[in-house]
Amino acid sequence: MRPMSSSLKAYAHVAIRAAREAGALLARHIGKPKTVQTKRSRIDLVTEIDRASERLIHTILHRATPTFGFLGEEQGERYAHTASRWIVDPLDGTNNFVHGLPLFGVSIGLEHEGKLVLGVVYDPIRRELFVATKGRGCTLNGARVRVSPTQTIAHGLLSTGFSSTFLTHTQPYLGWFKAFQRQSHGVRRIGSTVLSLAWVACGRLEGFYERDLWPWDVAAGMLLVQEAGGRISDIDGSSASVSDGRLVASNGHIHREMLRILSLSSHGTRS
Ligand code: IPD
Ligand code: CA
Ligand code: CA
Repeated sequence: MRPMSSSLKAYAHVAIRAAREAGALLARHIGKPKTVQTKRSRIDLVTEIDRASERLIHTILHRATPTFGFLGEEQGERYAHTASRWIVDPLDGTNNFVHGLPLFGVSIGLEHEGKLVLGVVYDPIRRELFVATKGRGCTLNGARVRVSPTQTIAHGLLSTGFSSTFLTHTQPYLGWFKAFQRQSHGVRRIGSTVLSLAWVACGRLEGFYERDLWPWDVAAGMLLVQEAGGRISDIDGSSASVSDGRLVASNGHIHREMLRILSLSSHGTRS
C-alpha cells in the first residue's frame, strides 16, 4: 500500500462519497423512522435509519479499503489491530432526527497509527460538507474555513451537550451551563456534537465542551477544529484523545478562559 499521506486524497474521496450517500438517506427519512428503540438509556435512541446508514457507509469504505479497521456506533469494532481505522457515527443527532428537527449529521474520521488524519462531516439538510486532512486545513463545500477570531468568551457563542447515556449526571452539566451562560453570548444545546464541532471549525461558534462522549462523536470533528486553526483538549486541559469522552474545542483564543470556568465546577469521570 502507498504511504498514508499520498493516499489521503483517495481516502477523502471515498469518505465523502459515503457521507453524501448516507446523508441523502437521512434527509429522505427525517421525522419518519419506522422503529425507535432505546439503547443505554431512555433517551439514547436508535432507529432503523441509523443502522441502514452505518451499513451503507461500511459497505463503501470497506470495499475501497479492505485492510482498514472500522469502528461504528451501531456495529462496534470490526477488523481490530489494523494500522488504519475508520471511526463512524452514521447519524449524530438521532433524537433531533426522530422529532423532525433538522440538526444532525454524518461523521467519518480516519485514524492512522493512532493519529487522526482525515475528518469528514456532512450536514444533509444544509448540504454542507466539511473536510479536514492532516496538515492541509479544513474546507466547507470546497472553500477553506478558519475558526473565529473572537478573543474573549464575553463575545463568544458556545455549544454543549448533555449526555444521553448518563442521565443522572445533571451535575456538572448544569453548573457549567450556568457559568458559561452568564459569561458568554450564550450556550446552545443543539443535540449534535458533530455539527457543534464543524461549526466551531468554520467560525459560527467560538467553543464547545461536553463529557461522556464516544469516539464516533468526536473523531472527525476534532480534526476539523485543529485544521481550521482551533484548539482541542480534555476538560482538565490535558491532550484530548478520541476515547477519553471529555472534550473542549475552541477557536484557541478563548480556550484558557473555557478551561478556567470548567475547573470551577467538579468535572468527575464517566461512571
Ligand atoms: C449524541 C449527540 C448529542 C450528545 C450526545 C451524543 P447520537 O449522539 O451528539 O448532541 O449530547 O452525548 O451521544 O446518539 O445522536 O449519535
Ligand atoms: Ca453521536
Ligand atoms: Ca449516532
